[in-house]
Amino acid sequence: MAHYQPKDRFYRKAKREGLRARSAFKLEELLDRARPRGLAGGAALDLGAAPGGWLQLLARLVGPKGKVVGVDLVDIAPLPAPVTTFRGDAREPAVQARLRAEAPAGYALVTSDMAPKTTGIHGVDCARSLELVRAALEIAGTLLQPGGAFFAKIFMGPDVGPFVQRELTPRFERVKQVRPEATREGSREIYLVATGFRQPTATRA
Ligand SMILES: C[S@@+](CC[C@H](N)C(=O)[O-])C[C@H]1O[C@@H](n2cnc3c(N)ncnc32)[C@H](O)[C@@H]1O
Repeated sequence: MAHYQPKDRFYRKAKREGLRARSAFKLEELLDRARPRGLAGGAALDLGAAPGGWLQLLARLVGPKGKVVGVDLVDIAPLPAPVTTFRGDAREPAVQARLRAEAPAGYALVTSDMAPKTTGIHGVDCARSLELVRAALEIAGTLLQPGGAFFAKIFMGPDVGPFVQRELTPRFERVKQVRPEATREGSREIYLVATGFRQPTATRA
């Protein structure tokens, strides 16, 4: 049986590098694999950002002229510029309006590491995870720049395949399902990595 190691090598590496969460190494691998365009000097949005490991990594990538925006249900201890954070539920329209106002020219990358509080009932946890990914995709659909990238954590379940095929793939040029090396053994999470956002064409009334 897999042995859970709370202080594994990724935990120790995160401590050494001053990163708030070991999950930053998951994002590092996703970025390596997808190589999203427009990040240097651009804007990145992180949904479900607490405590802020992904924000710290994104801040390095966008650099001092860029912008990183993070939102979470819980408070995020402040991080230096170019990071801006606030507390809120990403599914709320008022929160989404603020995310838009923070980067009026849109985002080059939208990430979601949002996770539901788990119940231990696999079907329920998967359904809640999918609901969060749908919300994240809706946000990405309105705030991403053309050609932008979208990364989202999802709990693996029978609905993931149809979601990817019907809802995600039509909106991006490339979609991959990635299980980063830093994922804990026994975890059912994977990441959807989508690049080359196709902006919807306006339909006439
Ligand atoms: C695994 S943690 C994120 C860790 C983060 N990537 C890091 O590097 O520090 C998942 C977060 O998703 C947040 N979350 C879950 N549902 C959310 C929602 N509807 N809106 C905003 N944040 C949400 C949780 O509060 C939790 O802090």
